[in-house]
Amino acid sequence: RTRTRIHHLQGWKAEGQAWPMLTAYDYPSARIFDEAGIPVLLVGDSAANVVYGYDTTVPISIDELIPLVRAVVRGAPNALVVADLPFGSYEVSPQQAVESAIRFMKEGGAHAVKLEGGERMAPQIEALVIAGLPVMAHIGFTPQSVNSLGGFRVQGRGEGAEQLVTDAEAVQAAGAFSVVMEMVPAVLARSITKSLPIPTIGIGAGNECDAQVLVWQDMAGMSGGRTAEFVRRFGDVGAVLSEAAREYGAAVRERSFPGPEHTFDE
Ligand code: KIV
Ligand code: NA
Repeated sequence: RTRTRIHHLQGWKAEGQAWPMLTAYDYPSARIFDEAGIPVLLVGDSAANVVYGYDTTVPISIDELIPLVRAVVRGAPNALVVADLPFGSYEVSPQQAVESAIRFMKEGGAHAVKLEGGERMAPQIEALVIAGLPVMAHIGFTPQSVNSLGGFRVQGRGEGAEQLVTDAEAVQAAGAFSVVMEMVPAVLARSITKSLPIPTIGIGAGNECDAQVLVWQDMAGMSGGRTAEFVRRFGDVGAVLSEAAREYGAAVRERSFPGPEHTFDE
């Protein structure tokens, strides 16, 4: 395989070939997903929740994310690695966005960045693209704005539909190479996908987007508590890991591990 590039995503859209994206936050998961043929990996600010244990994505910093990006890039020789710009690192101005994104590219080795916001972030997207930084946009439900969106709720219903279309068109016009659509009605996601020249990536947006994304811990049963309605669990890594830890603990307590085969002679 060769490194996935933006033009490949464009080609898959033209062919109607759906593609998967997953989050990754460290070397081993990136290696596994890359070898499994996942062409795009996102070092999401969801690391705030699933890696660092914060309640929301609001507190996570660039400094907390960059080492994760570096590890993912080292683990994934084939995937396009996208780094999420965290809350507070791009909203102030296009210049702030460019400075933050440059850190993710230079220090992190990311191939592209993602930021939340549609029409309102068009100036940031434009500045990033001018600076040579590929941008994945993120519209619909945007977790960093959970407080102004009134909680975790579907976006683009009723009057919100028009704004979502405006947002999709605005990020495309600003130069984004793709757009994540989170928690939007499937019919709306479908019509945006049909009319937008760039690939759409759905999460809780029906199965007619050009691509799909999930947080890997949700997808693989590693996220602990309850997950959102739009998540399907494809495995139970948490249960497997828990069982391994229990068996190891029991083996140590009863002195059946280490056995003779794990022991060095004189
Ligand atoms: O941070 C994240 O994991 C995301 C995806 C779910 C799109 O933004
Ligand atoms: Na995110």
